[in-house]
Amino acid sequence: DTIEWDPEETGKSGYDHYMLKEIHEQPRALRQCLRGRVDEMAGTVDIEDLGDLSPTGVQFVACGTSYHAALYGAQLFREAGIPAQAFLASEYATSVPPIGDALVVGVTQSGETADTLSALRAARKRGARTMTVTNVVGSTAARECDHAFYIRAGPEIGVAASKTFSSQQVALNLLALGMTNTGDVREIITALRELPGNVQRVLDESVAEDVAEVYEDAGAYFFIGRGYQYPVALEGALKMKEITYKHAEGFASGELKHGPLALVTENTPVFAVVTGDGEQARKTVGNVKEVEARDAPVVAISDGQSDVDRYADHVLELPETHPRAAAVLANTHLQLVSYHVANLLGRNIDKPRNLAKSVTVE
Ligand code: AGP
Repeated sequence: DTIEWDPEETGKSGYDHYMLKEIHEQPRALRQCLRGRVDEMAGTVDIEDLGDLSPTGVQFVACGTSYHAALYGAQLFREAGIPAQAFLASEYATSVPPIGDALVVGVTQSGETADTLSALRAARKRGARTMTVTNVVGSTAARECDHAFYIRAGPEIGVAASKTFSSQQVALNLLALGMTNTGDVREIITALRELPGNVQRVLDESVAEDVAEVYEDAGAYFFIGRGYQYPVALEGALKMKEITYKHAEGFASGELKHGPLALVTENTPVFAVVTGDGEQARKTVGNVKEVEARDAPVVAISDGQSDVDRYADHVLELPETHPRAAAVLANTHLQLVSYHVANLLGRNIDKPRNLAKSVTVE
C-alpha cells in the first residue's frame, strides 16, 4: 500500500488554505515576538541588543500591509513625544523628506521589497541611520540596515499577509516602549502579554463566517476607524481587495463625510471599528449613525464600551483591553471576514491573481 503524500497539503496542517492556518498561528507568533523582550514584573521592555538608539525622530518606510503597520507604529512613537511619520516607500524614494537626526525604519515582512530597499538606500545615502523591522533573518533589508528587529512570526506562505501584520504591530509596540519608556508602560505590557490569549478567544468565538455569508454578494465593502483603528480599517480593505477581488476601501472615520459617504448605499456594508468609551469612540459612533441613515448595513467591531452596537446589524465582539491591543484583535476579525468571503466566492486565496508574495521590482 502507498500513502498519498502531498507536501503542499501537509504544510497546511489540515487547514484548507495557508492563509487560514497563518491566521490561526497568530497566538503563537505573538508569543514568539514577545519572548524574552518584556518583563511584566518590572514593567520594562528589553530591546538592549539594538544598542542605545534614542532617536530624535522616526521616519517609517513601507509598502502595502507593512505600510499599515508603519502608520500604527508612527502613532505609537508620536504618543511617546517623538516626531514620527510613515511614508509609502515608493513615494519616499521619489521625494526624500529632510531626515535630520531621524532614524529611518523600513518595515518589511520579507526584507526583499524593492521599493522599501530603495527608500532605505536613499536615506542611507543621506547619512541616515537605518533599521528594519522584518521577519526574515539574513534578508537584504536585515543585511543592509544598521539595525534589524525581528518580528519572529515564522514563515508566511499565503500571499496575503496575516500573522506578520499582527507581529509587526506587537514588535512596533516593543520598539516604541523600549526606545522611549514613556506612557502607560505597565498597562501596555499587560495588554501585550494578554494578547495571544485574547487573539485565541477572537479566533474561537468570531462570527465572521456568518457575516461573510450575509454579505458575500455586496457591491463594495467599506471599513472605517479612527486613531489606532484607522490603519486597521485600511488593512481590512486591502485584505478584502487582495483575496476576494471585490471593491473595498478603508477610510479614517472622520473623512467619510468629506466624500466617500456618496458611495454608501444599502448594498455597501460598512465595517466600523470602535473601541473604548472616549471622545474618539463617540465621534466614530456619530459617523456610524450617518452611514446607518443611508441604509447601509453596519458591522461593528466593538468591545461593547460605546453604544455603537445599537446601530449595528452585526457585532464582531472584542474583549476589553488596551486600545493598542484592541487594534490587533479587531484586525483578526477582519482577516476572518475577508477569508470567508473569498472562500465562499471560490477565490485562489493563497495565490491571488496578479500578486506576488514579495515584490522585487520597483
Ligand atoms: C499584503 O497582504 C500584501 N501581500 C502586500 O501588500 C505586502 O504587504 C507588501 O508587498 C509589502 O511586503 P513586505 O512586508 O514583504 O515588504
